[in-house]
Amino acid sequence: MFRKTSEQKVLRDPVHGYIHVDYEVVWDCINSRWFQRLRRIRQLGGAYTVYHTADHTRFAHSLGVYEIVRRMVTEVPDLCVALDEKEKVTVMLATLLHDIGHGPYSHAFEAISRISHEVYTVKIIEEDPEISGILNRCAEGLAKDVADVLRNQYKNPLLSQLISAQLDADRMDYLLRDAYFTGTAYGEFDLERILRTMRVSQGYIVVKESGVYAVENYIMARYHMYWQVYYHPVARSYENVIRMLFTRLRDLSAQGKEIQTVPTLLPLLSGEELTLDEFFPLDEYTCSYGFQLLTQDKDPIAADLAERILNRNLFKYEENTPENVEQIRQELKNSGYDERYYLAYDEVGQRPYVPYQGEDNKAIWILMRTGKIEELSKASAIVTGLVRGPVLSDDRIFYPLMRK
Ligand code: NI
Repeated sequence: MFRKTSEQKVLRDPVHGYIHVDYEVVWDCINSRWFQRLRRIRQLGGAYTVYHTADHTRFAHSLGVYEIVRRMVTEVPDLCVALDEKEKVTVMLATLLHDIGHGPYSHAFEAISRISHEVYTVKIIEEDPEISGILNRCAEGLAKDVADVLRNQYKNPLLSQLISAQLDADRMDYLLRDAYFTGTAYGEFDLERILRTMRVSQGYIVVKESGVYAVENYIMARYHMYWQVYYHPVARSYENVIRMLFTRLRDLSAQGKEIQTVPTLLPLLSGEELTLDEFFPLDEYTCSYGFQLLTQDKDPIAADLAERILNRNLFKYEENTPENVEQIRQELKNSGYDERYYLAYDEVGQRPYVPYQGEDNKAIWILMRTGKIEELSKASAIVTGLVRGPVLSDDRIFYPLMRK
């Protein structure tokens, strides 16, 4: 039923060595236009404005997550037995396609479109004629099955655990890949050891007690990557300038003003949900060209914000305290800046590990030597410390350098 490619296809990858493709349906999805579109979307939004080599794409990440899951279902003995061929192919496809609904500039775009990438992802899988056609021609109902894995509704919950839990292939790939492309060592951890000690017990994916150090290392990698890379204030500044630009464009559009930009950006300004045809051409290439054109716009605010994005003339930042806000608002006023477009508030917070009471299939489980399974924070002193510690957060305001 699942046709193999005439010979195994391999794609070179700096993180995993090779990505291996054995099934025609996987190869066809890689060659679909929605998947190829991911080459035009960076994985890390604004982080490349801080780490200059961090412009790897969602295309590379999606292949990487697929490869980790492919290895799990072919190399972890318990999973080889627990899943049949259809389930293995279904979960490989779900991981390959898990980010297909991402728009440009990572999460900044979600704030603008107000639609999460998960919603578009399942819509594309089930409704795009090319992708749903590839899947359903391969096996009846396959598009729905793949979407169900991503919605956490598939009949065998093990499949969703592989890609959406606290120790999942998605996180494992992005940590390793982002660490590699930012040139930071924080994100590295021992993937080989985790795969080698992975088991299935009592319906959960678990890691043997002897693998707990590798899991601790992974949790620490996550913790450090969030604060050093994902939440870096300069990266957030970049995303906030983009958000401010779109706020300005929406206001101009609501006033009936003509906007000098590429037509593909215009549907975003209405505030309505984008159709798949409107969404498809919105990648970082068209947006960049749209910003380029906007620098010539009659509206000085739109032109200035577009210029700032293109030339990395970003906003400064300060802690969000009432005193700081008051002072900066006054300075903005004196310098002639409209605070609706030049003062951004942005708070982020993160817990490196949540024991997830009630959502057991998202927690990390350790298989003890006694044969019992323990939730990670009960099996690791380091993780206990992290769970008991405060939730770290970072609340800032972003604003431009004032004119004299
Ligand atoms: Ni992902």
